[in-house]
Amino acid sequence: TGHFTYDPGFGSTASTKSAITYIDGDQGILMYRGYPIEQLAEKSSFLEVAYLLLNGELPNKEQFAGFENDITHHTMMHESQRNFFQGFHHDAHPMAMLAASVASLSAFYHEDLDVDNADDRKLAAIRLIAKMPTIAAACYRYSIGWPFRYPRNNLEYVNRFLHMMFEVPSEPLEMKPVVAKALDLLFILHADHEQNASTSTVRLVGSTGANPYASIAAGITALWGPAHGGANEAVLKMLEEIGTPDKVETAVKRAKDKNDNFRLMGFGHRVYKNFDPRAKIIREMCHKVLEELGVNDPLLDVAMKLEEAALKDDYFVERKLYPNVDFYSGIIYKALGIPTEMFTVMFAIARTAGWIAHWIEQHETPGSRIGRPRQLYVGSDTRNYVGMDKRK
Ligand code: CMC
Repeated sequence: TGHFTYDPGFGSTASTKSAITYIDGDQGILMYRGYPIEQLAEKSSFLEVAYLLLNGELPNKEQFAGFENDITHHTMMHESQRNFFQGFHHDAHPMAMLAASVASLSAFYHEDLDVDNADDRKLAAIRLIAKMPTIAAACYRYSIGWPFRYPRNNLEYVNRFLHMMFEVPSEPLEMKPVVAKALDLLFILHADHEQNASTSTVRLVGSTGANPYASIAAGITALWGPAHGGANEAVLKMLEEIGTPDKVETAVKRAKDKNDNFRLMGFGHRVYKNFDPRAKIIREMCHKVLEELGVNDPLLDVAMKLEEAALKDDYFVERKLYPNVDFYSGIIYKALGIPTEMFTVMFAIARTAGWIAHWIEQHETPGSRIGRPRQLYVGSDTRNYVGMDKRK
């Protein structure tokens, strides 16, 4: 009983006011703090976008230098935290290790953290954005049995991450600008997306007063599912399974069959009923990266054929199912040498900027209260307890 609005999946509930990200799903518009995603993708950098999300304004030179300097000073993982990894099974999924490791940050940075203090909140944001690539690279290297690399602070954000991922002692790592540029762009496009499942999770956990590391760790676990951030990994696996363009038709048929729970991964979105603007940018980048790296990936042919087939199929047209951000990102990650199991981890690195910006906004908003949805009870009426010996 109770007079609540029934809104399964929160399709029509605004859980909060927010000044961070704007989406117009019908027109395919995405803006961070009022700046169109296309302009940020072309002209900005991930770290600048992170500053923008956190502070509401683009930084001037001095502000940016200060922010970059702060980030650079927090890139190290506590040496004891490095030891944690030895406890994981050798083939643990990197997302499992990431979620656990980020949650464990609360065990290292707890005494001095007051969630009601603005400086403490900012420090937590800096720590998270700075440490995320270090932890992510450790997840990867542990999974392949390589020793961890310390962050090289003379490199900038994305190259520092690539160094921690791929450096081996025997030869200097070749830093290809096209690789860094592509990764930086993917980070920009994934940095925030208003009240998606993982961000809403961060806010719900944050609303209880939990510390930011615990809140972000919860966001990571929400991101992991294939309906959300896990889709990028699922897309690549699906494309590999389809294998060749001539099998695309069968896949489309299966996706339409209501007795088959197969879906076209990387297609459809709760909010976008038009092209996902991020997918447009990524698709263009995908062709460019493959060309510049001299990679000829037959999966790109499968993806293009699949997109073409779905976009002219009535089922997808009627339901307004378009390629989303995850459709082409996996092909780029693959070309950059990033293994499939790390795709969602990459998403998490980028989304950390958005998550923590929302967590901060929530704490800065007067009158924020605990998130506590209600339900429509559909269970049994009142009945009396029966002793076990009397039960049938
Ligand atoms: N393939 C086939 N049919 C689909 C698909 C798909 N990918 N997506 C939705 N539909 C159908 C669905 O079966 C339903 O049909 P009907 O009306 O006949 O029952 C209709 O379209 C509406 O779908 P829905 O599940 O009610 O829509 P939703 O808003 O609840 O779900 C979604 C959105 C993104 C979870 C869903 O489209 C999906 O599962 N897509 C595949 C996974 C994916 O790519 N996720 C990444 C989303 S973007 C990045 C991110 O969030 O991390």
